[in-house]
Amino acid sequence: MKGVILAGGLGSRLRPLTLVTNKHLLPVYDRPMIYYPIQCLLNAGISEILIVTGGEHAGDFLKLLKNGKQLGIRHLEDAYQEGEGGIADALKLAEDFADGGKICVILGDNIIEKNIRQASGDFFTHSSGGKILLKEVEDPQRFGVAKLVDGKIVEIIEKPQDPPSNLAVTGIYFYDNDVFKVCQTLEPSKRGELEITDVNNYYLKRGDLTHEVLEGWWTDAGTFESLFRASTLVAEGGANKAG
Ligand code: G1P
Repeated sequence: MKGVILAGGLGSRLRPLTLVTNKHLLPVYDRPMIYYPIQCLLNAGISEILIVTGGEHAGDFLKLLKNGKQLGIRHLEDAYQEGEGGIADALKLAEDFADGGKICVILGDNIIEKNIRQASGDFFTHSSGGKILLKEVEDPQRFGVAKLVDGKIVEIIEKPQDPPSNLAVTGIYFYDNDVFKVCQTLEPSKRGELEITDVNNYYLKRGDLTHEVLEGWWTDAGTFESLFRASTLVAEGGANKAG
């Protein structure tokens, strides 16, 4: 299975830090942020990786990562997202790279303590459709949130004011190749983006979305608070980090 890291966006929640570089190149403790999702994929045995980026500083990824060999990446590709179309819009650019196969998608600002090896192996070997990883959080309003009935997800709501649970949808997703057709059918949300939550709800309605609750800590790093928390968690407990 191949891996796709989505590392575009303007990082507007982290200005002024992101005026001169891409959010995913900012430091999280002792590594650039992008090293963590890279190592997350490598630890799951995924070593063919596409990084989708955008904005004015996309060239900095090449300076940092080169051909990826020094980090253990077998094959590294880049794609450039024009504009600010959202996560599902960025994912469209991975279609040729996926080459008809299943993919693991990880948002470039998501950092985990443990690993996704088992979830990844299970999806690759046994599953179709989509699979998402959930995690209990204290501030579900910031995320996509799963509504469950009798242990089954019935709906995913993006940034709910009144969250139906404390289970956030993490930015780690597994999809079959239908995902690219699904992305083509989406309409922009109120924030003007193609939402990954709409992709997941599509698979859910199709009866083809599975989930697991992630073990160990998980954090994003796209706000000052979460960037600081990410650095602290990494410093205290280690994480998946390359280099
Ligand atoms: C995105 C997704 C959201 C998910 C989160 C995980 O949010 O839209 O569903 O829970 O990533 O990091 P964003 O970072 O775009 O606000």
